Amino acid sequence: TPIAILISGRGSNMRVLVEASRAPDCPYEVVLVASNDPDAPGLAIARDAGIATFAHSHKGLTRDAFDAIIDKALRDAGVSYVALAGYMRILSGGFVAGWAGRMLNIHPSLLPRYKGLDTHARAIAAGDAEGGCSVHIVTATLDDGEVVGQARVPILPGDTPETLADRVLIEEHRLYPAALADYIRAHG
Ligand code: GRF
Repeated sequence: TPIAILISGRGSNMRVLVEASRAPDCPYEVVLVASNDPDAPGLAIARDAGIATFAHSHKGLTRDAFDAIIDKALRDAGVSYVALAGYMRILSGGFVAGWAGRMLNIHPSLLPRYKGLDTHARAIAAGDAEGGCSVHIVTATLDDGEVVGQARVPILPGDTPETLADRVLIEEHRLYPAALADYIRAHG
């Protein structure tokens, strides 16, 4: 099953999805990595892995116009699923509708807690005993779609947002390839 990954930054989740895709029993193949930031460090990682890349800045474009450019790149690449991995753009309703049930995201919190930004700082400030990450289906409301996989980590005394983020990221890298593969196996 051909998929694309959308990134805005360092691309560590993208990298593990690409690595996982090379296992013989993996149901997806990464055919495109696309970014709204032509300078995203993850683009070089994708190129080094032999994956086609597409980059187009969103600057100066309306949300609808920019999403139409990304949508065309995805359609041209013939992908069946889209995986968001650190893609820092709010998506237009039309774009989301066009990929309904075929677009997943990883979010660094135990949804439904802490949608949006600064998840780790908010979990620590709330005195939570656990943090974690969630893979969810993307809907028109930010970080709100059905959760298809979750991983939990303890929040330890002395944790900062950075130390907690590091602990959660290790789990993101385990969770996302597995949850995406399960979802695509189940939905074809
Ligand atoms: C991850 O923590 C992801 O959960 C969040 O943004 C970060 C992206 O990191 N949405 P990377 O670009 O995959 O390294």
